Amino acid sequence: MAAQRFLGKTIIITGGAGGIGAAIAAEVANQGGRVGILDTNQGAIDAVVKKLTSQGAQVDARVVDVRDGLAVTTAIDALAQSLGGINILIAAAGGSLGTPRDMADITDADLDLVIDVNVKGTYYCARAVIPHMKKNHGGSIITFSSIGGRSASPVTGIPYAAAKAAITGLTRRLAKEVGEFGIRVNAIAPGLFLTDRLAGMFDELSETDRTEVLSAIPLGRMPELRECVDPVLFLASDEASYITGTVLDVNGGRLMPN
Ligand SMILES: NC(=O)c1ccc[n+]([C@@H]2O[C@H](COP(=O)([O-])OP(=O)(O)OC[C@H]3O[C@@H](n4cnc5c(N)ncnc54)[C@H](O)[C@@H]3O)[C@@H](O)[C@H]2O)c1
Repeated sequence: MAAQRFLGKTIIITGGAGGIGAAIAAEVANQGGRVGILDTNQGAIDAVVKKLTSQGAQVDARVVDVRDGLAVTTAIDALAQSLGGINILIAAAGGSLGTPRDMADITDADLDLVIDVNVKGTYYCARAVIPHMKKNHGGSIITFSSIGGRSASPVTGIPYAAAKAAITGLTRRLAKEVGEFGIRVNAIAPGLFLTDRLAGMFDELSETDRTEVLSAIPLGRMPELRECVDPVLFLASDEASYITGTVLDVNGGRLMPN
């Protein structure tokens, strides 16, 4: 049996019905945690809740758009009520959300969508969990930056770069503000992880392009999803009890910032 690191803890995962979020939810449940999910995709939520419940996990979920600050607070308060407080927030809802990469193709609505979901959504979710964490005299918040916010990515565009860079500023400033309450705030900055959504995209690349992508990664291979889940759960867990305000790059060495 896996170590029960999250026994007695409630972990809220936004985007918890998506690729990385659902993988985190499964591992949290595997390690004894109670799982609360916020996501916009009702069908995907139903599938995750059904799977985890059938494995004996305590799970609750709400269909919420993280861009709606009031709805986020209402849903998080309800999850705290049904699951017994909140210890950890993993704010994974985000991405480039199907928007184009190049400025010539990006509409103002695309720009708003990417900034609002990634940046404002993370802010609203953090704001909503903090009162619950204060009641517990501590907590841990994990935000999602990206290699695309830490460097000029060939894959994603300016809105995504701006949003994911903003997440690192949000993370550090929030860590400073809530440290006195025993609340830690850290960002994860993944490289390319082939979730179901992205696996097809990689497969469709030419052999030359695939080789080029791999040759930029010192470890010389694409990661398994577990290799993003484990660092997130390390930062979330008490094993990281003296770590706050950091950005953890998880990219096989493709980017090595100072
Ligand atoms: N997959 C990667 O390679 C990669 C790399 C770097 C960073 N990231 C980041 O990791 C996070 C998760 O990525 P993923 O690959 O699992 O994406 P995904 O698209 O598979 O999952 C994202 C989930 O967020 C939900 N979502 C989207 N908009 C929402 C909204 N407005 N409100 C609530 N939920 C919403 C979606 O329904 C989906 O379930 C994102 O923040 C992404 O930017 C991913």
